[in-house]
Amino acid sequence: MNNSKSDNNTQSTSQMANPQWGGRFSGGPAAIMGEINASIAFDKQLWRQDIQGSLAHAAMLCKVGLLTKEEENDIRKGLGEIAADIEAGRFEFSEALEDIHMNIESRLSDKIGEAGKRLHTARSRNDQVATDFRLWVREAIDGIIEQTKSLMLCLARQALAYHNVPMPGFTHLQVAQPVTFGHHLLAYVEMLKRDVSRLEDTRKRLNECPLGSAALAGTSFPIDRHMTAELLGFDRPTANSLDAVSDRDFALEFLSALSIQAMHLSRLAEEIVQWASAAFNFISLSDGFTTGSSIMPQKRNPDAAELVRAKIGRITGDFIGLLTVMKGLPLAYAKDTQEDKEPVFDATRAMTLSLAAMEGMIRDLKPHEQRMRELAGAGFSTATDLADWLVRELRLPFRTAHHITGKLVSLAEAKNCDLADLSLEEMQTVEPHINETVFSVLTVEASLSSRTSVGGTAPQNVKAQAEHWLSHLSSKG
Ligand code: ARG
Repeated sequence: MNNSKSDNNTQSTSQMANPQWGGRFSGGPAAIMGEINASIAFDKQLWRQDIQGSLAHAAMLCKVGLLTKEEENDIRKGLGEIAADIEAGRFEFSEALEDIHMNIESRLSDKIGEAGKRLHTARSRNDQVATDFRLWVREAIDGIIEQTKSLMLCLARQALAYHNVPMPGFTHLQVAQPVTFGHHLLAYVEMLKRDVSRLEDTRKRLNECPLGSAALAGTSFPIDRHMTAELLGFDRPTANSLDAVSDRDFALEFLSALSIQAMHLSRLAEEIVQWASAAFNFISLSDGFTTGSSIMPQKRNPDAAELVRAKIGRITGDFIGLLTVMKGLPLAYAKDTQEDKEPVFDATRAMTLSLAAMEGMIRDLKPHEQRMRELAGAGFSTATDLADWLVRELRLPFRTAHHITGKLVSLAEAKNCDLADLSLEEMQTVEPHINETVFSVLTVEASLSSRTSVGGTAPQNVKAQAEHWLSHLSSKG
């Protein structure tokens, strides 16, 4: 171990008991206890929410007569100064004060004396942290929803621009039927739409205020929980104090929604990696979202896409990590829940970065229309159109038509040509009733424009869908 603190840490105690809760203690914690116990290194990220919660709590205590107007004013002023100090990087966080709540409260008491010490009336760090964390997650949800909508808008713009550009559609990663590039991009808009709705759902259930649940049982003081809930933008106070201080399902819902969303982004990222490879050669990525190789001068690597593809590992890990922390915890608060924050901070950052990088890549990418058009027609991709023609024009049962088409495909394969390159006579050796009009369905364009069923890839459908999304997303701002 290279940390001198750790050398003699198992027995040694710092001299002083914690000033915030050390009344019944004569000695301070062992050094390693201080280290494992402290959360300030990461929960300082909650400082805005902590101050916001304290301001609401102080206003409520004043209204119900537990603080005088002067005391509330002093608290308000003191917290304002602390916020300015933290913002300016002047605030020194102390590990001995464990967490953000005690760091701020202790500084407040240093600044304003008695009034600062009265702030903790009718609350505990247990309801305080549950409140702060809900506020933090709520903001994170709002930020991610906004970013996701922005990515959807970007995809919809590109979908409109390329609503009639053919590309091969794949199943099993084998060329299956032609689709349009716009249709492909809009598929991700639909996925992201559901991601947004999962986040909105999470937000609804999260939006109840734990403040006033106190340590676990509520309080004997005549507090007004409706007032604090309203001041903090919650829909209502939570209904059960034990539940309110101990559950973190809102964070888990958030992480599970992010895991699913990260899965969607990772699929799109993987497609970008494939499309940008020399073998596919479907798109060019911009300089802004690729890197070069230090040894191979010709290389352009899709690092941003690869990293977005990878972030799901971290995000899902964060989800499973917190789920495992919560499993089997008895009511009510337990220190285990202090482990709730880092996974949520980590996953939020990973998602925020992924969305921003994905938007940049999509905005900048240039499809190679000629190349995609060529491959859209390769691999007998209009064979289904031929089978459909046999059903429609010759009234054959689909299974029979499928069989005949299979024979025509193997004939073309043997002749090393496309279906459309077979002569009518050659086709008639397989099915004598085939006539000239069959050729009208064998082109990529004919195939595309025939797919007008709801949700189909016909360019006119794709254009309408892209326009729908553009007006929907830009009207919401
Ligand atoms: N830092 C703690 C946490 O994040 C705050 C709550 C501590 N409560 C307590 N009774 N020790 O969970």
